[in-house]
Amino acid sequence: MAPIVFDELNVFTFPHSRMRKLMNCCTSKVGHTDFTSLNDFEQLLVRLQRTFVEFMAHEEIENHFVMKKLKKKLKQHSTIDDTELICNCHKVDRFTPLVSLFRDGYAFIRRGNADRVSYGVKLHKAMMKFYDDFVPHMHEEENDIQPLLSKYFTEMELKIMRIEVIKMTLQK
Ligand code: FEO
Repeated sequence: MAPIVFDELNVFTFPHSRMRKLMNCCTSKVGHTDFTSLNDFEQLLVRLQRTFVEFMAHEEIENHFVMKKLKKKLKQHSTIDDTELICNCHKVDRFTPLVSLFRDGYAFIRRGNADRVSYGVKLHKAMMKFYDDFVPHMHEEENDIQPLLSKYFTEMELKIMRIEVIKMTLQK
């Protein structure tokens, strides 16, 4: 079992609570959209694009303010096992295929209802797949990466890192 990390030293609690909210919101929105309504369809595409800009920013923030610093520490002190864990964390591009799918969606505005409904089924499947991948990814960061942070950084360093992450998350 992962050791308990106090909230003020946990760099993932705040941004992941925001990411979970966004994820629940957009998967539910896809599930409830009437794809025969042009207005609903267009609103959904705009919303999904906006939400994914936030997801991508979240990953950039983690890369810049957390992973890069952790990699540096690991280089100085660590075992090979710890380094592999961190290197694989953001290896998969989870966002580009979905962003392309949203962009492709605009072509369906001019198409018939049946085509839009079938695009909706594809979109729903893709969002569920994203959900099933992104939730375990966040768990991995919380349960595997956070303990590494606690192992290699001082409490003061973690507090500063957490503040930077929160500040950048709020700016996006
Ligand atoms: Fe917190 Fe890498 O998503």
